[in-house]
Amino acid sequence: MSDKAEPSIAGMREDYQNEPLRRKDLAETPFEQFHSWFSKAREAGIREPNAMTLSTIGLDQIPTSRTVLLKDLDQRGFTFFTNYQSRKGLEIEAHPGASLLFLWKEQARQIIVRGRVEKVSLDESEAYFQSRPYDSRIGAWASEQSTMIPNREWLVERNQMFCERYPETDQPDCVPIPEFWGGYRVLPSSMEFWQGGHGRLHDRFVYTKTDQGNWTIERLSP
Ligand SMILES: Cc1cc2nc3c(=O)[nH]c(=O)nc-3n(C[C@H](O)[C@H](O)[C@H](O)COP(=O)(O)O)c2cc1C
Repeated sequence: MSDKAEPSIAGMREDYQNEPLRRKDLAETPFEQFHSWFSKAREAGIREPNAMTLSTIGLDQIPTSRTVLLKDLDQRGFTFFTNYQSRKGLEIEAHPGASLLFLWKEQARQIIVRGRVEKVSLDESEAYFQSRPYDSRIGAWASEQSTMIPNREWLVERNQMFCERYPETDQPDCVPIPEFWGGYRVLPSSMEFWQGGHGRLHDRFVYTKTDQGNWTIERLSP
């Protein structure tokens, strides 16, 4: 074994060099603040800054987490697309609440969104589905997401079957949207912005939505 030079896992640590984050640096709404940090993550060349960890409440009450891609963001909330019959789909139907976590390690930044979840309209799902490449649209049909399958060949054959059923043509809707596929929107009730600071003096601010629909901002201890 040649692991002599490797530090132990317990010994792995980074110090963060960000300038302290002050209340006056923050936007009045968490959406503006999100856009500001998201733009900086893009400018910094972070790969897939729209990848987020989605946590849902398991049917056994134990949380389940997985990565999904943010595909739309407006004043209502954060939208991603998936299979409605997947594990996450069934969990959201049973408990329509979720948490989203963005981690931009290179900038020592994390954003956590919590809120209720709703399905987006069929028009929105269809518009996004038809904007996807042909292979992705076929893949949505082929994958009975989260179910057990015998092997990879089984999936490849199923994919081929849908390619034959829906051949690629010039028609934009040559592959129809499956009824079991579409978007969910997480409607934030709180959004926390964390930024790593020198000497473990990190900055944390949480925006919380009031009953009147305004946002309060509070600093949390790191
Ligand atoms: C970078 C990345 C992006 C992903 N984006 C999506 C996505 O947008 N939608 C989706 O359904 N699955 C996406 N996945 C796959 C999910 O993480 C997960 O494996 C799948 O949705 C099944 O989850 P479930 O069984 O908990 O429902 C992505 C995975 C990775 C690593």
